[in-house]
Amino acid sequence: MERQFTLRQFRIEDLDRVIYINRECLPENYSSYFFIDLFKRFPETFIIAEENGDIVGYIMCRIESGMPDFRRLKIPKIGHIISIAVLPGYRNRGIGRALISKALEAMKLYNAEECYLEVRVSNTPAINLYRKLGFKVSRRIRGYYSDGEDAYLMNKKLSN
Ligand SMILES: CC(C)(COP(=O)(O)OP(=O)(O)OC[C@H]1O[C@@H](n2cnc3c(N)ncnc32)[C@H](O)[C@@H]1OP(=O)(O)O)[C@@H](O)C(=O)NCCC(=O)NCCS
Repeated sequence: MERQFTLRQFRIEDLDRVIYINRECLPENYSSYFFIDLFKRFPETFIIAEENGDIVGYIMCRIESGMPDFRRLKIPKIGHIISIAVLPGYRNRGIGRALISKALEAMKLYNAEECYLEVRVSNTPAINLYRKLGFKVSRRIRGYYSDGEDAYLMNKKLSN
């Protein structure tokens, strides 16, 4: 039988497991405070994937202010995907795609009109995933990562 995953909002008791997944999967690691701060400010866009009671992936985001749009007399909101990871044994089954799709929907609750992220230029699985979901590379940022690797900045407009 195909194993099924479910998505739900992050809860504070999930913190240790999410930090574990972050350290297993990515060189960009953060303090507990950083995770908790993002959760408190933007709980709707901090989402975890669960399978048989175990957390196997997460996405966390921040809602930022864009350049003031004087024509519309407003400061647009922009969603920023800060971190996403799925444990190796659970990849290629649609969990990453589902996490991003849900986060993009949740960003609209904060009135975000577009979304962006940075990704290592060598990270083909992630770049493919973002492209499949409609993200486009807008520019390359030289030496963005602490080990000197470049990042692609990728963007997507969010529809209403
Ligand atoms: C990137 C990541 C979150 C994708 O999670 P996932 O659950 O495996 O992704 P999905 O199963 O939803 O894959 C969706 C699409 O991504 C692409 N993709 C995923 N893995 C891929 C791989 N190994 N090679 C090429 N493309 C891949 C495919 O286009 C796939 O679409 P398809 O299923 O129609 O072929 C996961 O690989 C991961 O945690 N990597 C380590 C952490 C990381 O790099 N995070 C991103 C930092 S910017």
